[in-house]
Amino acid sequence: MSRVVVVSGGSRGLGEAIVRHLLKQGDTVCTFSRSRTPAMDELEAGENGERFLFESVDIADSDAVRAYVKQVVKRYGKVDCLINNAGIARDGLLAMQSDAEIDLLLGVNLKGTLSLSRACIRPMLRAKKGRIIQISSIIGQRGYRGLATYAATKAAMDGLTRSLARELGERNITVNSIAPGYLDTEMSHGLDDNQRGQIIRRTPLGRLGTPADIVGLIDYLLSPAADFVTGQTVVVDGGITV
Ligand SMILES: NC(=O)c1ccc[n+]([C@@H]2O[C@H](COP(=O)([O-])OP(=O)(O)OC[C@H]3O[C@@H](n4cnc5c(N)ncnc54)[C@H](OP(=O)(O)O)[C@@H]3O)[C@@H](O)[C@H]2O)c1
Repeated sequence: MSRVVVVSGGSRGLGEAIVRHLLKQGDTVCTFSRSRTPAMDELEAGENGERFLFESVDIADSDAVRAYVKQVVKRYGKVDCLINNAGIARDGLLAMQSDAEIDLLLGVNLKGTLSLSRACIRPMLRAKKGRIIQISSIIGQRGYRGLATYAATKAAMDGLTRSLARELGERNITVNSIAPGYLDTEMSHGLDDNQRGQIIRRTPLGRLGTPADIVGLIDYLLSPAADFVTGQTVVVDGGITV
């Protein structure tokens, strides 16, 4: 049977690119987000539809996340790999941020990652194998004016990677983070021309990243070639943080 990969936030952006790539490679791919997109309808109706599961789930709702993973295990019998991709960013100086905005960012990016990881780790522990990848961000390492709460959640995801790697290594489960630089997705569409130009000028490879720049590393981290790699954060950013 093919690998069963759970990808959070696969309805658009980087998550959608990961879902499409893994499906094309023959994996069984289970994803969710709050809203259904035409891309999800297309994949359900497509030739790989029996290897694809989409549900509308808010990752901040831990009961719904638990129920979703139960459904995955009931339908496909296991979870081999988890990609914690769902995330949101909110621009604004911390001094001006409301409790509601802080709670939202922590609830989706951090608590959501923790509850989805917890739910997927259980079947991995039973199988004595598994792969977990967090999509964090260079912002968690370097910071960015106006993204303090987002940065805190992304730094926490890298911290989670290191502790989980220690916790799960003896069960043959690896845990790694990918920290992308600026990607050309909806999330970065809030950047104005000035910010975009500045990022491009500061990037040695002279452009923003694309989801395609990330999927190769995902392939590697999920492959047997990465059997001995765990607890790491790998930066993919065109060199902007060099
Ligand atoms: N774009 C960048 O420059 C960049 C750079 C570094 C790291 N990243 C990280 O890469 C990941 C993907 O980002 P992206 O650029 O692809 O963002 P995106 O285009 O905004 O897509 C985000 C995905 O997450 C889902 N999502 C958001 N809130 C959710 C919730 N409460 N419950 C379930 N799903 C939720 C969205 O669907 P719904 O809104 O319908 O729920 C969507 O599928 C994020 O973790 C982001 O922090 C992005």
